[in-house]
Amino acid sequence: MCGIIGLASNKQAAPLALRGLRNLEYRGYDSAGMASIHEGHLWLRKDVGRIDEVNQKQGLDQLPGNIAIGHTRWATHGGVSQKNAHPHADCGSNIAVVHNGIIENHQELRKKLQDRGHIFISETDTEVIPHLIEQHVKEGGSLEKAVILTSQELKGSFAFIVLSTQEEGKIMAIKRDNPLVIGHDANGTFATSDILSMPQCDRVLFPEDDELVILSAKGITMLDSRGKKIDREMISPGIEQQEYDRGNYQHFMLKEIMEEPQAVRAATIQDKKLFTQLAMDILRARQVVITACGSSRYAALVGRYLFSEVAKKFCEVVMSSEFQYFSDSIDSNTMVLTVSQSGETADVTEGVKRARANNAQVISIINRVGSILSRMSDEVIYLNCGPEIAVAATKSLVSQISVFYMLAYTMVNQFDEAANRLKDVSQELETILSHNNSSLEGLAERFKDSLDFYYIARGINFPVASEAALKLKEISYIHAEGLPAGELKHGTLALIEQGTPVVVICPHDYTFDETMSNAMEAKSRGAFIIGVSDENNELYDHWIQIPKVDNLFYPLVSIVPLHLLAYYLAVKRGKNPDRPRNLAKSVTVK
Ligand code: G6P
Repeated sequence: MCGIIGLASNKQAAPLALRGLRNLEYRGYDSAGMASIHEGHLWLRKDVGRIDEVNQKQGLDQLPGNIAIGHTRWATHGGVSQKNAHPHADCGSNIAVVHNGIIENHQELRKKLQDRGHIFISETDTEVIPHLIEQHVKEGGSLEKAVILTSQELKGSFAFIVLSTQEEGKIMAIKRDNPLVIGHDANGTFATSDILSMPQCDRVLFPEDDELVILSAKGITMLDSRGKKIDREMISPGIEQQEYDRGNYQHFMLKEIMEEPQAVRAATIQDKKLFTQLAMDILRARQVVITACGSSRYAALVGRYLFSEVAKKFCEVVMSSEFQYFSDSIDSNTMVLTVSQSGETADVTEGVKRARANNAQVISIINRVGSILSRMSDEVIYLNCGPEIAVAATKSLVSQISVFYMLAYTMVNQFDEAANRLKDVSQELETILSHNNSSLEGLAERFKDSLDFYYIARGINFPVASEAALKLKEISYIHAEGLPAGELKHGTLALIEQGTPVVVICPHDYTFDETMSNAMEAKSRGAFIIGVSDENNELYDHWIQIPKVDNLFYPLVSIVPLHLLAYYLAVKRGKNPDRPRNLAKSVTVK
């Protein structure tokens, strides 16, 4: 949720930390702050606002010294205020900490520390960390030992980075169930929530839970939870600088929508042997449960229809935040499939823990290599669609859907056919993206002041309606609902008034006739019908043209113009689609 970074360098660390922090902003952007150590003094500056605003107000990049830590916040414990922003310090202003995650026993720890005279300034759970470290140091330990002991007292999930006047050239980092990447580049060593913050790094490593990492400009030392030195191999980070550039696009979201055709193609480059094995495992499993959140769950819903329609394999899709309430039904004959762009969504990883505890086989469909989820799964399928920076998922969704086509068709021995059909579809997506823009922009202009949007579809197209509605509400703040067209008459129809926009996803596939009847019901109540179809129809007040593709492949060609429509609506309303209010891309809290 929050983004943390720490650097130990031979040069002034603050400007480097600020640069890295900007790349972590997708994780949260309520407030930001940094701390450094110089000549035995702790420097700490923080404020409410986006990183560049805070930098302008506070001069984060002016902090002196060769070690620095930084934080970009998505508030959980304590409102958005300067005092709740990170870093947090101890009573003596010698130790500063940036933290991502939740300390579940913070109230109990705070009470204990207060009884020992510690003074708290913020309402955050994080603030217990510097005070606990201070307490352990006071009781006679080294800083290293104090950090290890502190982490052992914490319940919950966390990754935190510490600096102290006691150790001027070092920073320390430790994590449990939260992302933390360690690496080095030409400027020194670093710890960060996401390797994307340090695109020019040479080598990286992913520490295990409760291992202490000590970073200096010279190198990295790692200790296990008993304080014993351990060795870890560093690996190549595997990202390219250009993948992190917005290029000539105004927003990352638009760039990522434009990359959707390529994302479909990349998803077809898979290991046929592995897919054949996984397809067999899915077919053999007594029950198959897919779990995911947000857009990834909508991709899973498309997968559910595909498994059933192509391979006649029934499966359930359970949203990860609700998965625990079904975990009693998960056993060693269950195949659990997870879908997650980031591979670090806490609700998903929690579900996987429960599934594994019940001996289920876990296969994960992930974009981010090296993520927590990848390390918790029996097998991993990678999307290979490159980093997705905008908070709202776009290219990762079409990529996930493509992987489900590959899996479903492999279940009926058609791996190569699926890859070929997807490649054809990707060509169609290129055409959609080069033709539809001005008409969609016009539509967005017309409806930019709408209070509500409804999206309806049936069968395999229904998840597209849900995804399109989610996209619209998260970036434009227009209320939107996506629902199976047949459900409209069971309640939501009461909300349709003269001119209410209803987007009807009705390609000429097996869903067409019945979806059109439902669209007619809405039109009779005054709805403005926006038809997403391969053929025009007099029922439509506006037609979003999509190409004719093979039956079952319409979700891919329908979602692309609807992503674009959501994007244009957000922009026309003056909203930044890359950084929607209150949201974060990686949700590492439950
Ligand atoms: C957040 C993001 C969504 C994303 C969801 C699941 O809510 O804002 O765009 O779909 O998390 O993320 P995941 O990384 O697990 O796919």
